[in-house]
Amino acid sequence: MITAQSIKQTYDRFSSLYDLIFKPFLEFGRQRAIELLKPTSGSRILEIGVGTGLSFEYYPRDVEVFGFDFSYGMLRKAKSKAADSSHCPVKLAQMDAQSMAFPDNSFDYIMAAYVLTVVPDPEKAVREIFRVARPGAKVIIVNYLCNKNKFMSVIEDIFHPVFASIGLFTLKHDLPSLLKHYGAQDIRIEPTSFLNLHHIVSFTVPD
Ligand SMILES: C[S@@+](CC[C@H](N)C(=O)[O-])C[C@H]1O[C@@H](n2cnc3c(N)ncnc32)[C@H](O)[C@@H]1O
Repeated sequence: MITAQSIKQTYDRFSSLYDLIFKPFLEFGRQRAIELLKPTSGSRILEIGVGTGLSFEYYPRDVEVFGFDFSYGMLRKAKSKAADSSHCPVKLAQMDAQSMAFPDNSFDYIMAAYVLTVVPDPEKAVREIFRVARPGAKVIIVNYLCNKNKFMSVIEDIFHPVFASIGLFTLKHDLPSLLKHYGAQDIRIEPTSFLNLHHIVSFTVPD
């Protein structure tokens, strides 16, 4: 069974190789996500599943980023990038996206890149996003979305248990419907990354 703990172990083990493989492969999505986020000066941004901190260089210098991840291995790498003073201030913590330790209405912007696919219960994480976001907050989720093509969908169902067992591609939810259920406004979706495998989903939290 896939648990937050088993996924954490996978990323703890994998953290030293992560940048080598996933920096080039997923870079465009991260950069574009922050371009679309367009945070205003002085705003508070939450980055969920911050990983090794590959996004830090793309934030403007005059914002404050709070990043968390479930894996200490990934966070260790993120800490050394956060120490580089050429980008904005970044605070880091170990936390589970399914139960965040922030009060309600804490953030102006929220970013989650390639994370919801590896959270065992993405619906809980989405509920938490709406709780910690301020009314009117902008949210960007970069994610693998279920394929609408019937053939591809069958292939995904076949490979899903294999990928899920190593902490990849666990999202079998219809993300846009889930977001609408919580009242997301102005939902926009654009393809990104290698072979357009991922999508950038942006929306605004209702006032
Ligand atoms: C594919 S990596 C993406 C990392 C980073 N966002 C990036 O763009 O490179 C997924 C990250 O989500 C983290 N993660 C997995 N489950 C999590 C959870 N329940 N809560 C917080 N982070 C989690 C993993 O430890 C890992 O760092």
